[in-house]
Amino acid sequence: MQKLQQLYAGKAKSVFATEDQDYVVLSFRDDTSAFDGERIEQLSRKGEINNKFNAFIMEQLAVAGIPTHFEKLLSANEALVKNMKMIPVECVVRNVASGSLVRRLGVEDGMELNPPVFEFFLKNDALHDPMVNEYHIATFGWATDEQVQRMKALTFEVNQVLKKLFADAGMILVDYKLEFGVFKDEVYLGDEFSPDGCRLWDAETRKKLDKDRFRQGLGGVIEAYEEVAQRIGVPL
Ligand code: C5P
Repeated sequence: MQKLQQLYAGKAKSVFATEDQDYVVLSFRDDTSAFDGERIEQLSRKGEINNKFNAFIMEQLAVAGIPTHFEKLLSANEALVKNMKMIPVECVVRNVASGSLVRRLGVEDGMELNPPVFEFFLKNDALHDPMVNEYHIATFGWATDEQVQRMKALTFEVNQVLKKLFADAGMILVDYKLEFGVFKDEVYLGDEFSPDGCRLWDAETRKKLDKDRFRQGLGGVIEAYEEVAQRIGVPL
């Protein structure tokens, strides 16, 4: 499918129109951002790794019955996806306490969370993606109640599939962020699932294998992403 004009540029991906208005091209760039876009660096090969990583995960989720926007890989850095109207909230599930949960509530980093915690955040860099709840979403019309319930249910279903996938490869899925959109009146998983949007720790050593390596200046960011990809069998 032919790639036409750019429709949108996010912090790490750009979206292009195609001749079919039901589909768009997602182009994964090497840009890596942290702190709501305040810090941006280029990490060579990150776009390609995340594109292929995301394709692999989206395919696994589709096999498990989760509706996703992913159609197919187009090139090393590009994928064809459904042209959705994105719901402007992020859905986060946490299996282990880390990151903003620890900062907000003062709980111990690494504490197992049983049951897992679910949180909504508004997608708004200028406001630093504030945490919101179902009342905010209803009052401000960001999604219908039905869509909210669907996003929650799908985010927990993803947890079942991916916790096992990473555990089988010796990793702990600490937490992750998902975004959903609406296509032909149905809610689909959108955006991407990659080490940019989740926390993954080695199960034995608890070594961080995700974007926290970039956020915390630990180095070896791409090497860690490649290690995760290789462990779960992503063809790179
Ligand atoms: O920062 P926080 O602890 O709230 O992040 C929870 C999870 O959501 C982490 O895996 C993080 O990588 C992801 N996240 C994201 N994009 C954001 C905020 C958080 O991918 N804008």
